Amino acid sequence: MKTVSFSQMKDGTQEDYDLLEPLEHEYIAQLPQRLLAALEDLANSLSGYKINRLEHSLQSATLAWRSGADIDWVVCALLHDIGDGLAPYSHDKLAAEIVRPFVREQCTWVVENHFDFQKYYFNHFYGGNRNVREKHQGNPYYDDCVDFCELWDQAAFNPDYANLPLSFFAPMLESVFTRKPFQDAYVQAGVRLPLVDTKIAQQRNTDNDATVIN
Ligand SMILES: [Fe+2]
Ligand SMILES: [Fe+2]
Repeated sequence: MKTVSFSQMKDGTQEDYDLLEPLEHEYIAQLPQRLLAALEDLANSLSGYKINRLEHSLQSATLAWRSGADIDWVVCALLHDIGDGLAPYSHDKLAAEIVRPFVREQCTWVVENHFDFQKYYFNHFYGGNRNVREKHQGNPYYDDCVDFCELWDQAAFNPDYANLPLSFFAPMLESVFTRKPFQDAYVQAGVRLPLVDTKIAQQRNTDNDATVIN
């Protein structure tokens, strides 16, 4: 395969970058597949819980889906812990940088800060402050992050819950991560949409996703 002429970037030429540009686009187009592989890898994560991190992620996304949440919320629920393995002390920040170019600012902020909000449920058991989320008070997305953790994160550790499979969410990853990045129409700065839509939830719960339940 043809490669660039340089060993140091300072020696790069126009021809080199004409070669690299389409390859870069081709590589970026495979992002949804790489995300699926990274999610599958969460099956080999932290032990001690009743379910592994892949199952937790699927459960979080399934709860979001069955709440009537829109695609940005569902995809963010699915990916919120994708940084667990590589960034155990800042996994929320890692996940946020993955979703940031493609989803609503509201959802990115919630993913980016969910660790502080999730600590409400456990930090005191480690001798820490369970209310660290309070440092975010005044942020317009504060309540959304409280709800995200209450409804879809802390609640998603149930081994008896019927998670939808990864294949159910794969087309959503495809759709979101092939969007043109950093577009105002997707980032929707300042827009707050509800996590829950009871009407849509009702449809989804009667429309029987039973066919795809594993
Ligand atoms: Fe998390
Ligand atoms: Fe989580």
